[in-house]
Amino acid sequence: MIHVAVLGYGTVGSGVVEVIENNNAEVSVKAGEEMHVKYILDLRDFPGDPYEDRVVHDFQIILEDAEVSVICEVMGGVGAAYQFTRQALEAGKSVCTSNKELVARHGAELLEIAKNKNCSYMFEASVGGGIPIIRPINKALTAEKLENISAILNGTTNFILTKMEKEGADYGETLKRAQELGYAERNPEADVEGYDACRKIAILSSLMVGKNVNAEKIYTEGITKITPADFAYAGAAGMTIKLLAFSRADENGRVTAMVAPAMISREHPLSVVNDVYNGVFVKGNMLGDVMFYGRGAGKLPTASAVVSDVIDCARHIGRSSIVCIWEREEAELTDISETERAFFIRAAADAREAVEAAFPEGRSLTVEGREKDFGFLTAVMKEKDFEERYSGLGDRVLNRIRIA
Ligand code: HSE
Repeated sequence: MIHVAVLGYGTVGSGVVEVIENNNAEVSVKAGEEMHVKYILDLRDFPGDPYEDRVVHDFQIILEDAEVSVICEVMGGVGAAYQFTRQALEAGKSVCTSNKELVARHGAELLEIAKNKNCSYMFEASVGGGIPIIRPINKALTAEKLENISAILNGTTNFILTKMEKEGADYGETLKRAQELGYAERNPEADVEGYDACRKIAILSSLMVGKNVNAEKIYTEGITKITPADFAYAGAAGMTIKLLAFSRADENGRVTAMVAPAMISREHPLSVVNDVYNGVFVKGNMLGDVMFYGRGAGKLPTASAVVSDVIDCARHIGRSSIVCIWEREEAELTDISETERAFFIRAAADAREAVEAAFPEGRSLTVEGREKDFGFLTAVMKEKDFEERYSGLGDRVLNRIRIA
């Protein structure tokens, strides 16, 4: 029997228990042994819950129980979650997690401990919710030199942007709905300011280059300045707006990475990734483009990804199932101000002359019924040149969005 402990009985934790219990026959056959949730660690009690008898409050009980071979860390954060994960791995117990903050910050170190202790640290659920992306990168795309990744990696913001575009929905109400549906982080700032997507692209980038890509050094911008007016102009230009996470590796292993709202063509496959769905577009030097699509957040999709890792660990008891390369050495990140792209600008109607003078190579966009502002598409230029000209326009410019 495979005895599992679940750390954290919140949205994902209760989902993990549900997947193991409801799919017990499938899960056990695939694991090679019957799988059983022996403990649930949480500060709270859950009177009336069908699994209340498994709830414990002391991690030592789990750590000292030799029967427990796999631990699901789904409590989040980088405090207790980090300590418990380290202790579990040091004790030779495999850990499976959905905690992208912890994976992004300490992934390389925790993988090293797991390898040394003949156990595993697995994090399929940390990126893209229920979408298989970590395992395909580590096990299926191994003949490739991965060149770049473009992705929608946050379900909450994709849900909000989709509702804004299609229903003209109110930002606050939609965020509340995403929280009720269990998509959002405990602190929604991590979603709407792009930090969650940043951690996820840092994880994918680290796997892409085999070195540690520091999330704190990735340029990150959220969706809080996007308005329905921006969507109107995007539509007029045959585009939509997505929170895009992007990463590219050059031939020297240097990484250019960014998270920011971007206008993308309606022709781009990521433009039809809507609601809570995520999409990950990976380019390999032999394969070309491959795309992964599915539910990027939510209790059961995320829990299913955690349990797929538990099964992997169960098949490798006593040895490590880790196949990825993610060294502690830090990858070099390029300065995005030197990168080139076109920009969309929305400006007050009386700023037209000034905008055209600042960007003589660009073109205006009009939307019927909008008289107080106008849209403008610049030519491709370096970020730093754009910012210099854009900041000179003062408060007559209302917003600017990158064109992907
Ligand atoms: N808050 C995250 C999202 C959860 O909305 O994508 C899944 O990582």
